[in-house]
Amino acid sequence: MPTAPLPQFPAGFRWGVSTSAYQIEGATEAGGRGTSIWDTFARSPGRIADGSTGDVACDHYHRYREDIELLAGLGVSAYRFSVAWPRVQPTGTGPAHSGGLDFYDRLVDELLAHDVDPVATLYHWDLPQPLEDAGGWLTRDTAARFAAYADLVAARLGDRVKLWITLNEPFVHMSLGYGTGLHAPGRALLFDAFPAAHHQLLGHGMAVAALRARSGSPVAIANNYSPVRTIGDTDADRAAAAAYEALHNRLFTDPLLGRGYPEGTVGDPSVVHDGDLAVIAAPIDVLGVNYYNPTGVRAPQAGSPLPFELVPSDGYPRTAFDWPVAPDGLHELLGWLHRTYGDALPPVEITESGCAYDDTPDADGRVHDPERIAYLDGHLRAVRSALDDGVDVRGYFVWSLLDNWEWAEGFTKRFGLVHVDYATRTRTPKSSYAWLRDVVTAARRKPER
Ligand code: FCB
Repeated sequence: MPTAPLPQFPAGFRWGVSTSAYQIEGATEAGGRGTSIWDTFARSPGRIADGSTGDVACDHYHRYREDIELLAGLGVSAYRFSVAWPRVQPTGTGPAHSGGLDFYDRLVDELLAHDVDPVATLYHWDLPQPLEDAGGWLTRDTAARFAAYADLVAARLGDRVKLWITLNEPFVHMSLGYGTGLHAPGRALLFDAFPAAHHQLLGHGMAVAALRARSGSPVAIANNYSPVRTIGDTDADRAAAAAYEALHNRLFTDPLLGRGYPEGTVGDPSVVHDGDLAVIAAPIDVLGVNYYNPTGVRAPQAGSPLPFELVPSDGYPRTAFDWPVAPDGLHELLGWLHRTYGDALPPVEITESGCAYDDTPDADGRVHDPERIAYLDGHLRAVRSALDDGVDVRGYFVWSLLDNWEWAEGFTKRFGLVHVDYATRTRTPKSSYAWLRDVVTAARRKPER
């Protein structure tokens, strides 16, 4: 357990927690919601570790008031949630379905009534199934569909959402959804997945314009980043690390910040039309950074279909996901972004940071998670170190408020500050919740002068 108090954070630093729609809402038939690619994928045998689906998840759709009480009790200034596209447009096209938007309207009002800023992600991987049937993100038209959906959401919520996030982790969606097939929609195209990168980025740029037209609030994207560490010291190892860095960290950042695609990342060049790069480079106000762990990379074995080999990071404690607990990687990453993009880098907010442990209630019903407290303590200190180095970091969102449905891992990975009993959906704040509440309360009371 950490004992030293955390260093101070700047006045106005945003303290938040994150969730996403499919992972917590459940109620997949309520309010006329359409089917998403995750409904289809989760219902396909063998795709999810425990055979579960998000049909009920945390039942947040019905229990959102209780969850907002938990947010208010935590004292955070912001809540990052995602809007389920199939609730707003059940088929992915056409007018807004009011039943769906009504839910988010109530959610946003309830957040504001509790003094919590709504931060809305428009796309956290739940594409309406009919759009996937028409080609999904491999199809250019999906970018225009996404912008039309963004317009509908902003028309309804644009006066109250305090920060917009267009896409969540387009890298993970491209690589696991379209590259390896471990996530929905389950396509395994390897490097032929490039159109899913380009069309997500194009959709982002078009959505930025739609959001600006309807709302004065700042606009961001939430990218997944992993600092790349070269394992070995041959030229081939360094080339492999550079190739992986281009794919994971630069493919979804260079074009956003006006640099075009990194060398070697464009698959079929005919996918990129004249003018697309200007649309993608529309200025954003904040870069959302989701960080979980670093990646070791070396040259591939002969005959590998990939230009790199990923190597597990040694020497760190590990989470229940077997991910290394590496706060130094967050410090390293923020320094890399600062050095690599210089003045082109907008202010950064950590839009996800968190860990899974096998948390279970003790005999008294309490849930103790000292590992999560140590994790958060370490990562907050890493952010403070980056601030000291001159990186403009404006906020930190913990993943996640609740234990929830963790994609291909189903209910087997618990990331919450609040424990959820999946038999009863009972919420029990863990000891990390109390720890973070004290940190946030102290930070918001004593701003740095
Ligand atoms: C991120 C996702 C989020 C959650 C965490 C653990 O990649 O954005 O939904 O699954 O990982």
